[in-house]
Amino acid sequence: MSSPSSSIESVLVENRVFEPSAATVAAARVSGMKAYEALCAEADKDPEAFWARLAKEHLAWHKPFTQTLDASDKPFYKWFQDGELNASHNCLDRHMGTPVENKTAIVFEADDGAVTRVTYKELLAKVSQFANALKARGVKTGDRVIIYMPMTIEGVVAMQACARIGATHSVVFGGFSAKALQERIQDAGAVAVVTANYQMRGGKELPLKAIVDEGIAMGGCESIKTVITLQRTPTACHMVAGRDITWAEAIAGQGTDCPPVFVGAEHPLFVLYTSGSTGKPKGVQHSTAGFLLWARLTMLWTFDLRPEDLFWCTADIGWITGHTYVAYGPLAAGATQLVFEGVPTYPHAGRFWQMIEKHKVSIFYTAPTAIRSLIKAAEGDEKVHPKNWNLDSLRLLGSVGEPINPEAWMWYFRNVGHERCPIVDTFWQTETGGHVITPLPGATPLVPGSCTLPLPGIDAAIVDEAGHDVPNGAGGILVIKKPWPSMIRTIWGDPERFKKSYFPPELKGYYLAGDGAVRSADRGYFRITGRIDDVLNVSGHRMGTMEIESALVAKTDMVAEAAVVGRPDDLTGEAIVAFVVLKRARPTGDEAKAIAKELRDWVGKEIGPIAKPKDIRFGDNLPKTRSGKIMRRLLRAVAKGEAITQDISTLENPAILEQLAQNN
Ligand code: PRX
Repeated sequence: MSSPSSSIESVLVENRVFEPSAATVAAARVSGMKAYEALCAEADKDPEAFWARLAKEHLAWHKPFTQTLDASDKPFYKWFQDGELNASHNCLDRHMGTPVENKTAIVFEADDGAVTRVTYKELLAKVSQFANALKARGVKTGDRVIIYMPMTIEGVVAMQACARIGATHSVVFGGFSAKALQERIQDAGAVAVVTANYQMRGGKELPLKAIVDEGIAMGGCESIKTVITLQRTPTACHMVAGRDITWAEAIAGQGTDCPPVFVGAEHPLFVLYTSGSTGKPKGVQHSTAGFLLWARLTMLWTFDLRPEDLFWCTADIGWITGHTYVAYGPLAAGATQLVFEGVPTYPHAGRFWQMIEKHKVSIFYTAPTAIRSLIKAAEGDEKVHPKNWNLDSLRLLGSVGEPINPEAWMWYFRNVGHERCPIVDTFWQTETGGHVITPLPGATPLVPGSCTLPLPGIDAAIVDEAGHDVPNGAGGILVIKKPWPSMIRTIWGDPERFKKSYFPPELKGYYLAGDGAVRSADRGYFRITGRIDDVLNVSGHRMGTMEIESALVAKTDMVAEAAVVGRPDDLTGEAIVAFVVLKRARPTGDEAKAIAKELRDWVGKEIGPIAKPKDIRFGDNLPKTRSGKIMRRLLRAVAKGEAITQDISTLENPAILEQLAQNN
């Protein structure tokens, strides 16, 4: 477990509080702390009645449910089980005949600045047409479809089209490697891949289809019967006869009407792979009704969405944030949203601010890593400082993915929100489906760097290793005591791992988030102190240390042993540090540099560029206990450059610490 102590100290010294303005409170859907507390009290008193009321009010059911929660097979909770609905119907069809029908659903800005718009009605037609294309290619209800696409309208269309026919999608982030893609295809047993020939990022054309081909060619992907490729750029790509078809060919001749397939509430809407403590990524399975309910409700509660808002979540559809707050939540809530293909620093680091001005964005939701890198850019170059653009359209800011340090929070608050816009620091995870601990803009007084309080219905608590509550001010393990509708249902194909990872017996059946947290002594506000397992958070991307270790030792001609730890990093939150023992003598100097580069590139190929270690150190061996266990806490200290003050009495080979501390 990593020590949360330094973060706890900063919680104790943070005493700035920003109350919501009277006007914000008056206009808000959840208006004032009393309204928030009333919802919490309703949920506490009778959780099932609370969730049943919300599910009836907020989802369009084809067949109403009669049982709210089935907890007969814990922790495999089932919500609204006998009800039937369709997610795409809830996001699109349900708005037809209402004022939302002709409202813009998506404003798309491409990497080069070109803008395209689609209304809800047009989006429904596109989704239906692509759903028909999937059916024509043999995709059926219950099948899995891999989506490996850039941020585009078509990316959202592909996800919605799968939902429309009851196929379970599994989106793979475009930065993952062929190998990572192959593993996900195999694990999911997918029948189809939807991709693009290339993606445009920062003015560069990056291949996608070639990586799909490479992944499938690695073998074991016989389940794939078809690959549909969007021609995103004019450049040609290789097409395999019989298997591959372009997006344009696939939709040619298909009608724009496709009746939604109504599925059971628990039908798996998607599987999204994420990193855990062991080597293999886990396929987090979400339900249809529970997920969608929370996607819509958190749009209304956390973002206090209004009909005139222009909502912009900068996350990629390859991550959970892009699922809940791009592909489903905004559409289920009838919002107009901006979808952006490119990167925040191209053609200059003022791109986000420029886009907020250009599209009159009112709600802006991004990651601390992006904020920190844009602060750095603005400090280095006045021309890209947000003050150069008119940001008056903004009324609410959000943060997600990692702890936001109070300094970055204050900069965001002052320079982007002009001290007018509340910041919702939303804590959640792939597994929670949507926000779980977050301020509500018209209710919660804000404290920089704190995600404040749980949403109504979310029974979050901090406990010790035996599951007992710890007092405010003392750090501990973050858990959620009661089930809630948008929680992970299982790990695809591995229910045992699901039980073991999230419901360890010593924690009394509570959901284990995997994060450490502390509540402030005065307000009981939560602050997340970081992961307590072997998961790193690098630029808001979740990476398993074991996953990177497995990749390194897979280079069998070179690597004998590897251990990976995280080191705090001002820009990326955490940086990956790998300690490697080679099969040959320990290299130094230029040779060490060359081998480190080779290993970094290798990891890039095995997992993806986001997993490349920032720092690789070579040793004759690794610090181990006499029983042969690698002492990671010592490696963490070495990675940070700290003097070792910890107990090393169980260490077999103390001399190794000094060797590893040298940066080759
Ligand atoms: O450590 C927490 C951190 O991100 C982890 C979840 O990562 P992932 O499943 O990829 O989902 C990211 C987007 C929801 C958590 O276990 N995390 C996420 N949001 C916050 C956060 N840490 C602190 N504050 C947050 N607001």
